Amino acid sequence: MKIVIACFFSMVAVVAQANELDKRQILEVNAMQRMHILVEMRALLSGTQKILHSLSEENMTAVAQHAQSLGTRMAHKTEGQLNGVLPSEFMQLGMSVHRDFDQIAMDAESLKDPKYTLGQLSKTMKKCVACHATYQIQTIYQSNAQNLKSSH
Ligand code: HEC
Repeated sequence: MKIVIACFFSMVAVVAQANELDKRQILEVNAMQRMHILVEMRALLSGTQKILHSLSEENMTAVAQHAQSLGTRMAHKTEGQLNGVLPSEFMQLGMSVHRDFDQIAMDAESLKDPKYTLGQLSKTMKKCVACHATYQIQTIYQSNAQNLKSSH
């Protein structure tokens, strides 16, 4: 029993320390919402990798296809679940990334200029960097998440 209590307190200490060290704004989400966010994030990372690979082969049709899949079409699929849960600045920043990918896809198709696309991608990725520097997510229990949702 003593060991259990000691473990509990050391865990509390670790969580408190993590909160103190990580000064980014906390987004409270439930386990399902966290999963939706992180699945989308990993798709953004792997899609970006595919765009870079296609750029290295100067295959602009493939670039356009991969960029398209990260565009606003992707947002409609995933972000419906998160509307009203996350702050609107967060949602807007996310949406502007999807719009950038729409634009990257259109320009890759029409201009077929890898260097231009690389410049666009680099600019868009500044938004990934900016958002990650600003926010962190933390999971809360379902009942709290419902309260949070209805208070928005
Ligand atoms: C509007 C905000 C926002 C934007 C824009 C954004 N992300 Fe994220 N991303 C997050 C948050 C919040 C997390 C969770 C971070 C945390 O809690 O430490 C995250 C986590 C991730 C993770 C970790 C996934 C996991 O399974 O743990 C990856 C990879 C990622 N983002 C990639 C990207 C890429 C690539 C882009 C740009 C193309 C991007 N993100 C744009 C908010 C954003």
